[in-house]
Amino acid sequence: FENGLGRTPQMGWNSWNHFGCGINEGLIKQTADALVNTGLAKLGYQYVNIDDCWAESDRDYQGNFVAHRQNFPSGIKALADYVHAKGLKLGIYSDAGTRTCSQRMPGSLDHEEQDVKTFSSWGVDYLKYDNCNDAGRSVMERYTKMSNAMKAYGKSIFFSLCEWGRENPATWAGSMGNSWRTTDDIADNWGSMTSRADQNDRWASYAGPGGWNDPDMLEVGNGGMSEAEYRSHFSIWALAKAPLLIGCDVRSMSQQTKDILSNSEVWAGPLSNNRKAVVLWNRQGYQATITAQWSSIGLASSTAVTARDLWAHSSFSAQGQLSASVAPHDCKMYVLTPQ
Ligand code: GLA
Ligand code: GLA
Repeated sequence: FENGLGRTPQMGWNSWNHFGCGINEGLIKQTADALVNTGLAKLGYQYVNIDDCWAESDRDYQGNFVAHRQNFPSGIKALADYVHAKGLKLGIYSDAGTRTCSQRMPGSLDHEEQDVKTFSSWGVDYLKYDNCNDAGRSVMERYTKMSNAMKAYGKSIFFSLCEWGRENPATWAGSMGNSWRTTDDIADNWGSMTSRADQNDRWASYAGPGGWNDPDMLEVGNGGMSEAEYRSHFSIWALAKAPLLIGCDVRSMSQQTKDILSNSEVWAGPLSNNRKAVVLWNRQGYQATITAQWSSIGLASSTAVTARDLWAHSSFSAQGQLSASVAPHDCKMYVLTPQ
């Protein structure tokens, strides 16, 4: 999908995981402010993404989307202007069906070109496109239509497909958009997070610049997991080169949450020069020693490396293998640079 976007996985914030349908323009503005004031924006979290429930239940008499009159009285264009003035980008949400997943607003099925033109005219930079209420029509037909509309009228809009299901989107979505879901919705607990990590892992070979696997958005900071679990969640998402879309209330996040989300050593880009990223993840409920042999990570056993511990922010030398004692549900993450 050649729109030149998504050379690295998208980073930003999305309203759904924390706020669901309880959104309004004040929240979006305050979130943009908070991303800047906390320093997260500067680190790369640039998309401020409005999820489901931003529109009126019905289109206007010309068939256009109408922003929710009570919750978004100034309209989406004004919000895009506000977000852009902060140096950030605005994302929006629609659905390849008759209604979105919440059922509270229309989807874009058979309004694809019209809606992309609307989003473009508002200055929208990102579209998350869901897959509920499909009217019995095929995924391929419905997403192809929107992808073509984006190619024609939304060239500067990042296109995030929110489709995972039976169709194994990783195998075909690379020609249609900049990312695709690989899993059902994440929930803010250990079991949900680990199973999404596993499901996503099957599709690793399909991800790359321009198109990324999406195991769903981050739950870091929402309260359902321990600090160690959130550290693992973040490390694995970064290792998988998953989108890093913050899903908590950044206006009131704790220092711990901010420290996890702002660890730029962890999420720094694709690795060049034969460096390796390694996560030793302890999924047991007790302390364990975990070892990575060079043979299992594609290094010759004679290779000496400098190992950078991305959470301790310190370096040491290693050869042949790397071992560490890891607390329950926690992880260690390293970048190994051959010496
Ligand atoms: C689906 C998506 C979620 C969210 C909701 C909104 O469940 O997977 O991320 O967008 O719809 O209704
Ligand atoms: C779930 C997902 C949605 C969408 C639908 C399709 O609800 O959360 O994103 O893929 O399935 O049925």
